[in-house]
Amino acid sequence: MFIFAATGSAVGLGNIWKFPWMVSESGGGAFVLIYISSVILIALPIMIAEVFIGRHGKQNPVASLQYLSKESSSFDVTEIDGDLNRIKTKKQQYSNSDDYSNWQLVGWGGIIAGIFILSFYSVIAGWTMSYILKAGSGAFNLIDLEGSKMIFANLVADPIKLMGWHTVFMILTCYIVAKGVKGGLEKAVKFLIPGLFLILIALALYSTTLNGFGDGMRYMFVPELSKISPSVVLSAIGMAFFSLSIGMGSLMVYGSYLSNESSIGEVTATVAFADTSVAILAGLIIFPIVFTYNLDPSTAGPGLIFETLPIAFGSMPGGSIIATLFFILLFFAAITSSISLIEPAISFLIERHSMSRAEASIKMGLLTWFLGIGTLLSFNLISDYKLLGMNFFGILDGLTSKIMLPLGGLLMAIFTGYIVKKKIVMDELRMGPIKFNFWLILIKYVAPIAVTLIFVRGLL
Ligand code: PFF
Repeated sequence: MFIFAATGSAVGLGNIWKFPWMVSESGGGAFVLIYISSVILIALPIMIAEVFIGRHGKQNPVASLQYLSKESSSFDVTEIDGDLNRIKTKKQQYSNSDDYSNWQLVGWGGIIAGIFILSFYSVIAGWTMSYILKAGSGAFNLIDLEGSKMIFANLVADPIKLMGWHTVFMILTCYIVAKGVKGGLEKAVKFLIPGLFLILIALALYSTTLNGFGDGMRYMFVPELSKISPSVVLSAIGMAFFSLSIGMGSLMVYGSYLSNESSIGEVTATVAFADTSVAILAGLIIFPIVFTYNLDPSTAGPGLIFETLPIAFGSMPGGSIIATLFFILLFFAAITSSISLIEPAISFLIERHSMSRAEASIKMGLLTWFLGIGTLLSFNLISDYKLLGMNFFGILDGLTSKIMLPLGGLLMAIFTGYIVKKKIVMDELRMGPIKFNFWLILIKYVAPIAVTLIFVRGLL
């Protein structure tokens, strides 16, 4: 069940909408190479740490971090029990244990990052919903690049339509969260993810028949090393965090449901593998289309998949049905991710402020909905209002993916590697000594040093 829930969280718009867009923004193969290396060397080790914190703490992220830091700051005192005349041990806190509770701030940062991400995620999920109807009505039949760009441009230029879809998506998300029907949804993931996978494989096969297939493959898999820069590396690391849903506590919440018998290393590796495969498949589909129709990938922007896929759907037999099915599956993938984005906030409000699930969902839903208005307007009415060259959506996206998630992940790595007692981690992970030590090197040295260096170089 954990694998389904965590895969449901990981596989979403990030893989299919954002990954190809980021690849195109950062110049192709160089980004893909760094992305895959970051998943293996940085993101997966931190994912293990995050799930570990959740499973050991068994509460919302803020409380789990507090609990673990307290536990690790205590030490055993052995004394003679006078009455019974035997040795007893008791736990005692270090006097400075209050300092350690600052770690709960990582949980707080995650809650805020989740709300920020969901606010724009919901707007993009709205595009997906609108495309279900367009696909179903045959709007993509024999469409060319101009036509496809026009459909997308008309959608994002209309704040009322965007607001409508954003509102519907937020209501659906909050309804599911309020009802707590996660169990049902997790079961649905069992069919949805394989369904999405199958349709992606079919589309990738279709892409092999296009003229631009060779160019697309070269673009994705032959890295131009000159394109590697600190900002490309930061974007790849941020994308890895975003795509695997790490650095903000979602996986801590899911980890708290993970049974003690499961191996954290195995389940997280499975999720990371599934997630990365979906992202790569999305690239295999999009880039041959891009090169077949002479689109300039470097100027594509967040509309990339919405402008390219309809052309492919429009020219294949049974395209309307396949397109409708595709956008329905993408919508479900988005909703299983959005639930996990809001869940850290919800579990915190329920446990700490004794709110009901319904009240917490409505309050957080309203807040997120309100924030989302900034994103939907940044494609039309306020598109010219920019800070550091970025509009409102760009700022939220950059702030979360390039700062908040990597920072959250960095702190989780330091927390697990240096603060938590090694014995607690070893007992919980139960890996063989070689695997455990390899993981420990990654979590204590490789991940923190890489993320810190990239922060310093990439942000300046
Ligand atoms: N991983 C999701 C995606 O790729 O679409 C987005 C996401 C979900 C990010 C949950 C972060 C998170 F906590």
